[in-house]
This record gives sequence, structure tokens and C-alpha cells, in this order.
Amino acid sequence: MISHGFWKAQGLMVAAELGIADHLADGPATVSLLAEKCACDAGALYRLLRALASDGFFEETESGAFRNTDDSEVLRSDHPQSVRALGMMVRRLEYPTWVHLLDSIKTGKTAFNEIHGKGLFDYLAEHPEEADIFDQAMTAVHGQESPAIASAYDFSATTSLMDVGGGNGTMLKVILETHPHLQGILFDLPHVVERARPTLTASPVGQRVAYQPGSFFDPIPGSPDAMIMRQIIHDWTDEPSIQILRNCREAVAPEGKVLVVEQVVPDGNTPHPVKWLDVDMLVYVNGQERTEQEYRQLFEKAGLALERIISAGRFEILEGKPAADG
Ligand SMILES: C[S@@+](CC[C@H](N)C(=O)[O-])C[C@H]1O[C@@H](n2cnc3c(N)ncnc32)[C@H](O)[C@@H]1O
Repeated sequence: MISHGFWKAQGLMVAAELGIADHLADGPATVSLLAEKCACDAGALYRLLRALASDGFFEETESGAFRNTDDSEVLRSDHPQSVRALGMMVRRLEYPTWVHLLDSIKTGKTAFNEIHGKGLFDYLAEHPEEADIFDQAMTAVHGQESPAIASAYDFSATTSLMDVGGGNGTMLKVILETHPHLQGILFDLPHVVERARPTLTASPVGQRVAYQPGSFFDPIPGSPDAMIMRQIIHDWTDEPSIQILRNCREAVAPEGKVLVVEQVVPDGNTPHPVKWLDVDMLVYVNGQERTEQEYRQLFEKAGLALERIISAGRFEILEGKPAADG
């Protein structure tokens, strides 16, 4: 039954939190050994693993040990498509807010802010461990989409590209790998930029990346040819979104482009996962997903003309340029 879908979700997220797949990376292990490594009750852990194994996550061997399966391998921290951090982020931060969905629907208020007395990004600035997990989780959520974004947009006329709210820099890295003529600037809050810096600097594109810590609610320094922001505007209601876009408009070179990467809400009853993501934005982040018309209005209010919408895999790239009268 759909109401009990959370059983499996919680089971998987607990396995992610405990690092079970990491403990099985070198081969099968007995439940008592796993329980010792994870500081768990062996009987309870066995019951969880048996249930997960019944769905193909982990497998019980004939000798009563457990091993990874293809489906549980992605819970390993070192898997290239790892979803471990995503499971941890959802269990720790996102899921507890959804328990208050009814309150959010009744009041229109964001449950996370009501529970913690502050918004998600202010909370993360004060909780470094959760912030690190959040950055990694973002790669799991939309990291696979970076190559489609890098190849869908024609960057040939662009020299410098700023990734605004670029998180751990994984999208900027992929764009720079795809377009060797580009120089990149990673812009995000200071604690985020400092976490991203060592890995990005050590990467093959490291020499072409500059770092700009700051808040997009303040004037943004520099004058890049293009500014890109993926899953940023959907984190905010209209007023702050207009402020972010206006700060980009002020910063970008006069003939430059502001690229907003989001999923545009389709009309009517058309099925689309972004309609559920929109509810998540209400409950968890105090943001919202938008239709094309709503994005067009935001751009206008920020002094940007929405010129084109380019399809890029799961996302759309909304291309804006400073409006003559903006
Ligand atoms: C949903 S995440 C998206 C991260 C990245 N763009 C991606 O696609 O993976 C939102 C990002 O906005 C950043 N952010 C939040 N508030 C900010 C602010 N005031 N100034 C700059 N960045 C901010 C967060 O630190 C986070 O990296």
C-alpha cells in the first residue's frame, strides 16, 4: 500500500546511515560483525537486512552472512553514482519535515523553518557535517544531468562562466571538461566554497577555476560573460528570487547571459516529477517550482529578458540577457 511506502524508504536510509554497503565492500560479513561495526542490536539489524534483501538490497548467503547486490552497491560511499549521502540527507533533514506536510498545507508555511526557526541554508551554515552531506547529496540528485547541460548550451561565445550557488562544483567541473576554452568561477556561501576548493583544485580543470565566496543576496563581484545557476531559483519565493536574478543582472557583462537551470512545470494534468518537487520546496526549503509564464515574469521583474528555453536532459536552461530598459 502506498501509505506504507515509507517503510522501505526508511529501511534504505537507515542502511545508508549505518554504512552497511561500505562494510560489505570487501565481501560478505556476518550480522554479528556488522552489528559490532555499526553499534547496533544484532537481532534487530538482522530483521532489517532480511527485509531489505527481500527487495534485492543486500543478499543473505547460505552461511547466514550478508553481501552487497547491484542495487545495494550504490549505497557505497565510493560508488561513482553513490546515493549514500542522499539517503542520509533525506533521513536527517528532509523526511522529518514531510511529517509536518499537513501543517504546511494548512498554513502555507515551510515546515523546516517552523521546526528549526531558520531556513535550510542558514541551518546548514551552522551544521558542518550536515552541510557536507547536503553538498554530496546534490551531486546524487542532479549530478548525472551535468553532461547534458554542458553539451546542450553553446558556450562558444563565452570566456568566463560563474556557477552561482555551484555547491561542490561538480557541474562546473563537467562544463569546463566539455569546453576547454572556458574559465570558471565557483560562487557560493563561504563554508561551501571552502569545502569544494581542495577537490576541485586537484581535478584536471583545477587551473581554470577561481573561487568567489559570498551571498547572492549581496552584490556579486566580477563581470563574467555568463552566469549559470542550477536548482537555485526554485529554492526561493518570488521576492528573494528576483533579488538573486537582479544581482546577477548587475554583475554579468553587458552582453552576457544569465542561465537558469530548472525544471519548468508543465500545464494542466501533465504528469511530471517537478510537481512533487514543488511540494518538497514548500515543506523543506521555502521555495517553489514555476511555469514558463512565472519564470518569464520573474526575469522581467529582475531586468532580464527571457530569450530562449533550451532542453537539457531532465532540465531546461532558461537563457536571459540584461533587458535594455531593465
Ligand atoms: C539546491 S543546492 C544546488 C547546488 C548546485 N547548484 C547543484 O546543482 O548541485 C543550492 C545551493 O545554493 C547555495 N546557496 C544558498 N544560499 C546562498 C546564498 N545566500 N548565496 C550563495 N549561495 C547560496 C547553497 O549553498 C547550495 O550550494
